[in-house]
Parts: sequence; C-alpha cells; structure tokens
Amino acid sequence: MLQGYKLFTVTHRTTDINQIADFFIDAPDDQVLERKLKKIKDYFGIEELMYLITCNRILFFMYKPEAIDINAFFFAVNEKLRHMTGSLNQSIEYYEDELAIHHLYEVASSVDSLVVGEREILRQLREAYNKCKTKFEITGDKLRIAMQMTVKSAKMVHGNTRIGEKPVSIVSLAVKKLLQSTPKHDSRVIIIGAGQTNVLMSNFLKKYEFIKNVSVFNRTLDNAQELANRLNGRAYTLEDLNTYGEGFDIMIICTSSTEKFINPEIYSQLLQSDSDQKIIVDLSVPSNIDKKVLANNDINYIEIESLKKLAADNLAFRKNEIAKVKEILAERVTEFKEVYRQRELVREISHVPKEIKAVKEKAINIVFKKQLEKVDAPTRELIEEMMTYMEKKCIALPIKKAKETNLGSVI
Ligand SMILES: NC(=O)c1ccc[n+]([C@@H]2O[C@H](COP(=O)([O-])OP(=O)(O)OC[C@H]3O[C@@H](n4cnc5c(N)ncnc54)[C@H](OP(=O)(O)O)[C@@H]3O)[C@@H](O)[C@H]2O)c1
Repeated sequence: MLQGYKLFTVTHRTTDINQIADFFIDAPDDQVLERKLKKIKDYFGIEELMYLITCNRILFFMYKPEAIDINAFFFAVNEKLRHMTGSLNQSIEYYEDELAIHHLYEVASSVDSLVVGEREILRQLREAYNKCKTKFEITGDKLRIAMQMTVKSAKMVHGNTRIGEKPVSIVSLAVKKLLQSTPKHDSRVIIIGAGQTNVLMSNFLKKYEFIKNVSVFNRTLDNAQELANRLNGRAYTLEDLNTYGEGFDIMIICTSSTEKFINPEIYSQLLQSDSDQKIIVDLSVPSNIDKKVLANNDINYIEIESLKKLAADNLAFRKNEIAKVKEILAERVTEFKEVYRQRELVREISHVPKEIKAVKEKAINIVFKKQLEKVDAPTRELIEEMMTYMEKKCIALPIKKAKETNLGSVI
C-alpha cells in the first residue's frame, strides 16, 4: 500500500557519533547543498527527497517506487565512503514502504533519539522538510502527506504518554556533565557559534548563573551580538579568535561548520599561556576542534559521544513509556494507510471535474444549441443554473464517496 517510500539513515545506534559526519553531504552552504541534493535526486530518478542531519543522525526520506542501490547512493552522498564498504553496511539502516513511515514516526516522536523524549528532533525534522520543500523544491505531495501525518503522530505521542516528561535534551545533559565538574560562577566563558543549540545552552548558563564573564564568537557578528546581549556578554567574529587575549575557563562550541578551525595555534592564543585544566563543551557534529588540541592539552572534554551514559540513564526513566508510544505509532501507521489510499483515489479521479464541465459546455454550446436559442432568456438562465448545479453535484459526489469507500465500487 505505501510502496515507494524509502528511508536511509545512519544513527547513534549503529555508528560512533564522531563518524556520523562521514555520511553528511559536504556542503559549506545551502546553495551547494541544494545543488548536490538535486544531482542525487536526478541521478537516481528519485521523485521526492528530503535530507535531515542532527547531532546523532543523518536521514534521507524519499519517494521512488523502484529499488535504489544503497551503496551507490551513499557513494554519491560522499565519495570518501567508497573506501569503507565493510562498515558501511553495518552503519546504514534501510527501511521501505510502511516501515519507512513507521521509522519516520519513531524519529519524530523521539523514541529513536539518543536522548529519548527530547523535543528538539521534531523542530529539526520540520525545518529540514520545509527547507527541502520551499527552498530546494525537491519534495511533493507524497512527502507532504507523510510529514503532515508524522507531525500529527508525534504530537499525539507527546500528548498521550509521559515520554517527554521532565524534558531533557543533548544540551541539558551536556550542562549536567558540566556542572559535575563544579566550575566557578565567575569562570571566563567563551561561546563559539550562536545558533539554536548555543541559544538553548545560554538559557542554562543564565539559570545556573555562569554569566559574569561571557564572550560570544560567531561567523555573523549580528547573531553573536544577539546572543551576547542575552548573557551581558561581548560579541566577536570568528576571526577575532586569532587575537583574543582575555583567556578562558570554559569553552562552549557548537557550529554547523565542518572545519576544525580550533587548531593548535588558535587554541594557544586562547589559552594565553594558562596551564590550568579547561572545560570544553563541544556539541558540533563534526567537531570543530583539531585532534592535536585535545591530545596535547589538559582538557575536561564534554562531547556528545561522552553523553551516552547519561542518555542511557534517561532511557531507563522512560522505558515504560516506549511500549505505549509504539502502540500509538502502530495505530497511526494504519491510519496513514487509509489517508494515503484516499489521497490516491482523489488523485485518480482528479480529471473528472474537467470532463464533467466539458460535457456541460458541449450540451449548451453544441448538442442543445438550437433548442436553447428558441427559449426566452429567463428559461435559458434557469436551465444553465440547473446544469451548473448538476455539474457541481457530479463533481462532489464521487470525491466524497472516494473518501468514504473504495473507488472500485463507486465508479
Ligand atoms: N539542535 C540540537 O539539539 C543540537 C544538539 C547537539 C548538537 N547539535 C549540532 O550543533 C550544530 C549546530 O546546530 P544548531 O541547531 O545550533 O544550528 P543553527 O541554529 O543552524 O546554527 C548554526 C551555527 O553555526 C554557524 N555556522 C554555520 N555554518 C558555518 C560555517 N561554514 N562556518 C562557521 N560557522 C558556521 C552559524 O553561524 P551564522 O550565525 O553566521 O549563520 C550558527 O552560529 C550541528 O552540528 C548540530 O548537529 C545540535
């Protein structure tokens, strides 16, 4: 019934988080991303496509009735993957038809998340879809219905279970880990990146009162300034990292850049010859910190992979709810099949209104033309009104019936 839907994904369940970035499309900006996605779509003859990356998953959701060679698909995503065919198959999960919809529902409801119950994933999924739909124009009706039903299901899950109770997120777990090392409230905090994740992080910094000495660095200065204003901090561009001389105790870094721009030279500049242990909260995927920096300095390094243990504790708290969520999702997939069938039927009879209108026009202008010329104006008007009424009814009835029953028994 739901043939043609396909979902390819690599997640924290199969792959080390630091390696998930190997499966990303390498694109410094949306223009390049759009071009690469369209190239993949055309090359594999995919009718509709969407692409999501988060800190713990990459996901391609698509519509294409024929099979796709998955390895070839990922080689097109990233040429480098050709060299790791063995582990490639272990990393990639593949779902099709009903199972693809089911998996998308699980993702949106956060039962597949590293931090089960987090709400961030639904926002990320909607944003990814909207970008692919509106900006890249690579989606269509099939993905539209699937996304509509997915969002509805996720809301139903959150409304009817305790899966999202006592909300947690990657950010809140990172903060929990940060607090375990009891940093001082007057710590010098540098924040690198001013996106959604660091905005969430800033709420915690405020809550736990780490805003005495904050500097924000970002590609776009205005965004750095906006975040700095929330924290009574100072704003800088990323280039300013080369000359910053105030030192730091805590670095919070999270950008969408794929560059390891915190290299030994910049780190040394930031240290200002200080030899105390530093705390780095690094939530970027892939990390923006050069491995040599981590290897050669005294750092309490908090990154997503290291949050898995805390995430597992969180899972234990929510375990009972997962069974309930799965029950709801199974029902919702059944509902999706019905909605999809109706949509297909409506599509199949979409030519009917045009044909009925043509019959009416022909009756008035050709078949009964002479007879109509003989009747007076009010009678002609009445006849045309009746025919328009019939036309509307003839159009509405099969569509209504198609929604209620199987089209085969209607037309
Ligand atoms: N959302 C979450 O829950 C979550 C949790 C953990 C980790 N993450 C990871 O965090 C990263 C960012 O996510 P986000 O939700 O915060 O994204 P976002 O809201 O889109 O913000 C992206 C940030 O990265 C900067 N940036 C983008 N491209 C850049 C480039 N080429 N060079 C330098 N800076 C660049 C942006 O700067 P401008 O202001 O100049 O655009 C902005 O500060 C991603 O790797 C994501 O996987 C997200």
